Amino acid sequence: MCGIVGYVGPRSAQDTVIDGLRRLEYRGYDSAGVAVVSGGDLHVEKRAGKLANLEKVLDEESLPTAGIGIGHTRWATHGPPNDVNAHPHTGGARRIALVHNGIIENFVELRDRVEDDDHELLSDTDTEIVAHLVELQVESGFDLTTAMQRVCQQLDGAFTLVAIDSEDPDTVVAARRNSPLVVGLGEGENFLGSDVAAFIEFTREALELGQDQIVVMTRDHVEVTDFWGRPVEAKRFHVDWDLSAAEKDGHDWFMRKEIFEQPRTVADSLIGRRTKSGQLQLDEMRLADEELRDVDKIIIIACGTSFYAGMVAKYAIEHWTRTPVEVELASEFRYRDPIIDATTLIVAISQSGETADTLHAIMHARAQKAKVLAICNTNRSSIPRESDAVIYTHAGPEIGVASTKGFLTQLVACYLLALYIAQVKGTRFGDEIDEIMEQLEAMPDHIETVLGSAATVYDLARAHVGTRSVLFLGRHAGYPVALEGALKLKELAYIHAEGFAAGELKHGPIALIEEGLPVLCVVPPKGRDQLHGKMLSGIQEVRARGARTICLAEEGDASIEPYADVLIRLPKVPVLLQPLVAIVPLQLFACELATALGHDVDQPRNLAKSVTVE
Ligand code: AGP
Repeated sequence: MCGIVGYVGPRSAQDTVIDGLRRLEYRGYDSAGVAVVSGGDLHVEKRAGKLANLEKVLDEESLPTAGIGIGHTRWATHGPPNDVNAHPHTGGARRIALVHNGIIENFVELRDRVEDDDHELLSDTDTEIVAHLVELQVESGFDLTTAMQRVCQQLDGAFTLVAIDSEDPDTVVAARRNSPLVVGLGEGENFLGSDVAAFIEFTREALELGQDQIVVMTRDHVEVTDFWGRPVEAKRFHVDWDLSAAEKDGHDWFMRKEIFEQPRTVADSLIGRRTKSGQLQLDEMRLADEELRDVDKIIIIACGTSFYAGMVAKYAIEHWTRTPVEVELASEFRYRDPIIDATTLIVAISQSGETADTLHAIMHARAQKAKVLAICNTNRSSIPRESDAVIYTHAGPEIGVASTKGFLTQLVACYLLALYIAQVKGTRFGDEIDEIMEQLEAMPDHIETVLGSAATVYDLARAHVGTRSVLFLGRHAGYPVALEGALKLKELAYIHAEGFAAGELKHGPIALIEEGLPVLCVVPPKGRDQLHGKMLSGIQEVRARGARTICLAEEGDASIEPYADVLIRLPKVPVLLQPLVAIVPLQLFACELATALGHDVDQPRNLAKSVTVE
């Protein structure tokens, strides 16, 4: 997620903005920039790379002294991380400077409108289009506030926007929808930030902006309206966090923060996936429809958590497209002399985009003429660069080494890919795709519901301090969830944990069951009678041998109650989408148990966030 800072007051705007951006570096970014208004002109400096690159330029020649400025650290979504795509962006007349966090869903339509007005666009970003739109408004006589209101009324998607006008050196105007923005209230000065970390060294008095709100800020005055200029109340609060807590949004770990970000990141991963006519569209699908129609086999390649996302994808892709899918550990793939040809589609799933096992596997596949599609969270990283097409997951930087929001947004991207292929191959049609998309768009609320039971899961986790072994059971799409739940416990609590397909127990693993052994069971929705009944049988088998059954089952499923020592309820969702909610209690369980054990949850022993060696 990008970092945003705004300032108006007696201090050096450049220094204050840069200080704020430095406190937002933890959010992860790949370029940075600052703009100030001085002497009736706009002065902008921006550079790809880390803040140090920008500071080096400013050390050589700083911006003019100014009391008003904005700044940005960019996590690239549209367009590669380079100087031109870095924010702030300006309009054609260089009167307006603007920074943006989020995704403008209708930017293509808006771009046509801007280019029609003979405005040359210099970058690949959706943000630059908004800067031109705001400038068109002020050039036609509206003040910056009204201009921002009128532009926000045209925008679809998620956005935080902050702008300054060279002809109004006293006013910063900002807007937000589905993207964070807070105001820091000073004495004779005011601040804006993506989060309070940007300004708590100057003030701890803050305003939290609500949905679809505009804030107009001068040195001595802050006013909040809706997008139509009607005054609205913003919630004032005192920040009692220290800087470290502020970076984690008040949580103790980045991982816990990222677990609770999942409703938003899943919603963000669905933004902009459909054209105005309702057709599915993917980020960078450079594979023609007929090439996809010729695909007769799909091989998903990944490691770790991403591999488990691929296992879930197999169920969805095969069900919706009837195309055979294999899921392969990247580290094994190229050593087994795989059967690949020009009608094979390789899907590489990687949060970091730098995992060496996965990168070398897709290079091997490409050498055999296979087409490669990457599902990745990191813009322009090595794996997308080696691929023919990319679906970005838009989870924002994932700081915790143990993947959580990265996993959920990979699942969403896999569902979207499956539906896209079904749309191209004609194995699913408009109304069916619409129905599944509506189910997906309802998932953020369902994830929020599961997060509401966090306290129960935390109590359960703390009660398991001292446990030496835990088993996880699942069937169908719940089986990869069991594997991922076991991985979370291994990598965070350093406890032996193993996931099994529940039907496999009687073929050996049931010998592991002993009195009191915790067994977490992911129970499929009742709608699938074969699956649900067989899962209950497996649970009865382990319980009869002394296991302590901790069951995750959907609301209203009473049949599980006699066999669950502990019951965690899940929202009712379709069986293929259940991984999106079933994994959340297992993430919380592992996070809390590791915390109770005194482990470093964000940096577990022996692990790296990106494994760039084979
Ligand atoms: C997940 O919690 C682990 N950190 C690890 O298994 C990870 O998923 C794996 O290394 C793959 O990483 P990638 O998604 O960046 O390729």
